[in-house]
Amino acid sequence: MSRSIYDTTIPTLIVSRHDLGGKYPVIGSGCEGGVYNYNGKYALKTFELFRSMEYFYGDRVDLKFRKVEEMTKLKDPSIRFPVGILGYRDEFMEGCYSDLIEYEAGLKDFDDLTLPSNKVRQIDYLIKGDRTVKRAHDVGLIIGDIKEDNMMIDKEGNTILVDVDNCAYGDYPFDLFPDRAECYEQMHGKKGNYKDNDIMLYTLMVLRILFNQPEFKFGKRKSEIDILINHLPINKEIKEYIELLLSDAQNKPYVGPLLQKIREYNK
Ligand SMILES: Nc1ncnc2c1ncn2[C@@H]1O[C@H](COP(=O)(O)OP(=O)(O)O)[C@@H](O)[C@H]1O
Ligand SMILES: [Mg+2]
Repeated sequence: MSRSIYDTTIPTLIVSRHDLGGKYPVIGSGCEGGVYNYNGKYALKTFELFRSMEYFYGDRVDLKFRKVEEMTKLKDPSIRFPVGILGYRDEFMEGCYSDLIEYEAGLKDFDDLTLPSNKVRQIDYLIKGDRTVKRAHDVGLIIGDIKEDNMMIDKEGNTILVDVDNCAYGDYPFDLFPDRAECYEQMHGKKGNYKDNDIMLYTLMVLRILFNQPEFKFGKRKSEIDILINHLPINKEIKEYIELLLSDAQNKPYVGPLLQKIREYNK
């Protein structure tokens, strides 16, 4: 393997491209790549863009792999860091793919919280998830891509952050998606820092989940969002504000139990 990135001390796995066409069960797939269950212990994260990008953006791809390598040293029980590097091989070439992660059975994503039966549990998880975001910041990670399918709930009910390989970390910027810090700017009309942006993204997710509106319209509840933003991060004031929102007639069926929960948290 000629690329410098393979000169690494962390575990590296090279897979055959053809094997991705059916050998490994698909866990998740997006437009950029997929996640496959490799052997029950490890999962593979591929990134199709790399196959075309590495020749044009060699430095940035290398940068990403250096970052992934650094991230494997990080530890936090609520964040699933990469554990190795993934490469590919086919009959024409070898190259970079993305990272190896530990496979974890039974993860459910935050989308699950929008189910009516889970309404009462929502607040618990939204508050726990907020702490997970802070923990990511504490280890030097800026997430940039907070959404329902990157925040998980494990079998014990802990909130877990996945999909961190494209986060900014330490001196490493958002390598391939520099636009990931723009949400704050769009909402406020001025630049914020990356942490503000994450908190913004988390808040918008909270609102989508609470109101079961996958495409949350900023304008529609602009005043409510403004109030939320002014009280970031999610804390006592936010919970009180959520209480206010939930007293809205349309949420009536859920108000009682949720208010009770919120009061418990505010004690
Ligand atoms: N460590 C893991 N174990 C099991 N499933 C996972 C794990 N990490 C992610 N997943 C599942 O795979 C999906 C895609 O993973 P993710 O890292 O978010 O990739 P993508 O970059 O394609 O969004 C997630 O939404 C989640 O459902
Ligand atoms: Mg994802």
